[in-house]
Amino acid sequence: MGKMKFGEKAKNPKATFLRLMKDVFEGRYLLIVLIVFCIILSAFSTTYSASFIGSFIDDVVIPLKGVENPDFTKALIYLGKFAVVVLISIAASFAVSYIMVGVAQKSIYDMRIKMFDKLESLPLSYFDKNARGSIMSRFANDTDTLNQLVANGLVQLLTAGMTLVMVLFSMAVNSWILLLVVIAFIFITLFVTGTIGKKSGAFFKAQQKALGDVNGYIEEMMNGQRVVKVFTHEEKCKEDFEVLNKKLEKTMAEANTWAGSMGPVNNNLGHLQYVVLVLVGAVAIIARPDIYTIGALAAFLQLSKSFSNNISQLSQQANNVLLALAGAERIYKLLDEEPEKDNGDVTIVRVKGEGDNIEECSERTGHWAWKVPEGDKSTLVPLKGGVVIDHVDFSYDGERTVLSDISLYAKPGQKIAFVGSTGAGKTTITNLLNRFYNIQKGIITIDGVDIKRIKLNDLRRSMAMVLQDTNLFTGTVKENIRYGRPQATDEDVIKAAKLANAHDFIMMMKDGYDTVLTNNGENLSQGQRQLLSIARAAIADPPIMVLDEATSSIDTYTETLVQSGMDKLMENRTVFVIAHRLSTVRNSNAIMVLENGRIIERGDHEDLLKAKGVYYSLYTGKTELS
Ligand SMILES: Nc1ncnc2c1ncn2[C@@H]1O[C@H](COP(=O)(O)OP(=O)(O)OP(=O)(O)O)[C@@H](O)[C@H]1O
Ligand SMILES: [Mg+2]
Repeated sequence: MGKMKFGEKAKNPKATFLRLMKDVFEGRYLLIVLIVFCIILSAFSTTYSASFIGSFIDDVVIPLKGVENPDFTKALIYLGKFAVVVLISIAASFAVSYIMVGVAQKSIYDMRIKMFDKLESLPLSYFDKNARGSIMSRFANDTDTLNQLVANGLVQLLTAGMTLVMVLFSMAVNSWILLLVVIAFIFITLFVTGTIGKKSGAFFKAQQKALGDVNGYIEEMMNGQRVVKVFTHEEKCKEDFEVLNKKLEKTMAEANTWAGSMGPVNNNLGHLQYVVLVLVGAVAIIARPDIYTIGALAAFLQLSKSFSNNISQLSQQANNVLLALAGAERIYKLLDEEPEKDNGDVTIVRVKGEGDNIEECSERTGHWAWKVPEGDKSTLVPLKGGVVIDHVDFSYDGERTVLSDISLYAKPGQKIAFVGSTGAGKTTITNLLNRFYNIQKGIITIDGVDIKRIKLNDLRRSMAMVLQDTNLFTGTVKENIRYGRPQATDEDVIKAAKLANAHDFIMMMKDGYDTVLTNNGENLSQGQRQLLSIARAAIADPPIMVLDEATSSIDTYTETLVQSGMDKLMENRTVFVIAHRLSTVRNSNAIMVLENGRIIERGDHEDLLKAKGVYYSLYTGKTELS
């Protein structure tokens, strides 16, 4: 039964299989008929070749034995027939694999699109719960095993099954006594391989674990090379690796000893079966030459050989199919994830007019409003960017409360600063404004409209964010800035870059705005990356802006650039700024001091200094806030 593979098996193989078949074959019924037909043809040729040997011996070879001037016409006719069958069978298997490769590639292509679309629709919380690596493996490994299954495994499984049925039938017709011998050997083989399989299975699990440890260690060390070198831990690392490697060696040796014995044991059982069949067959021929012939025995031996071949083929493929179904199951799990909920009916529209007399229009006016449906009618609320957070509680996982009872407001154009130690919940508050996450209690409104009622895209269009961790995509500098507003012209891009103080360093780069960035802008400094993400927010030009200052320190020169870039970005907008530098904070309309998810002090810079509380000690104690 070949070498066993161990891995995660499907939990619900039947349902997954049916769903997969539906995805792959739905609407391709003609193909199915064609495939089944071809499979029958190639299965038939196997049994045919056995019976060919039998009748060739009995009808051609034996009658011609010892004859002078033998006539080979009959032999040629036999061989001709055989050649035709073989050719047809080859054509059939070729056709099937050609068809299935195409079907598999098309299905995987569709599957990848569905998976990617799904990823784009999922809420951020999905990415909190699932490691990047395991999501990547859905795309890389699971689709690959699925491809193997659809392109090869399935056909091989069906062919083996079909051949087995036909061979069994031919054997029964040929000689039931010999069939009994074969069946007896099946049981013996099953018993022996089952026993060995159980033994080696346990060792393979151990080997898998040891392998995981070794790989994990290598990865960790590669990621941590800088730290390793800084603390000159190279020798220690080698020693630790040695231990893990030794363990892998041992478990692998054990597992493979058992698995390695499987093949020889099986082979020898096969030879034994052959010998027993020949003995029993010979006795039968001698005892009843009227019923049993040499040709029939030869045919039977051939059948028994393809019988055991197909059984091991079947068990191997069944194992592969289960592994592939496990992959399919993981893919379907991703496809079945709940997408980000968006029940919003409030949208942003262009308006013209003044005060209460505004009306929706399609031309560019530079003025926008929330269109709030109420019954059959809808009202227009000018988009100004006033934000109210009212008694909000929030937890990421439903267990640990991260924010409790947060209330605050920002009138249009006001600047609100959040300060507080690391982990206090500053970034979290801003994540709630654009509904990266949904709040459990309380309400958040923009211009009086509950953000839960606003269509997600429109909500997110109304605000731009400079995130704490900058993210640049593979592409030119220009494209990265334009990400904030895809319709923006080159002039807009340069204007935004100048506003963000990014223009000068961009011009110093090799190809200026056309310099290609890779790997999250790996050749840029932390500060330069921030400047680019400020430019990206600037080009979007929304009424509300969220700035999450990066915690990692940058040089003082770049810092002043970042600072004045941010300052210019803040003009004429409602701004929430998370500040790690007091210079950012001082000219805010209100400062919220957060600790453990609560606002413990609030007021403007002067008020808070007078209060002589936490802010005061932060301000007088050190210049860094965290
Ligand atoms: N995606 C997440 N899933 C679960 N918990 C999170 C997640 N993001 C943050 N937290 C937790 O929520 C709390 C608040 O984190 P938050 O990122 O809001 O802090 P912060 O005030 O922005 O800190 P910093 O100054 O370091 O940026 C922390 O205890 C953190 O561990
Ligand atoms: Mg933060």
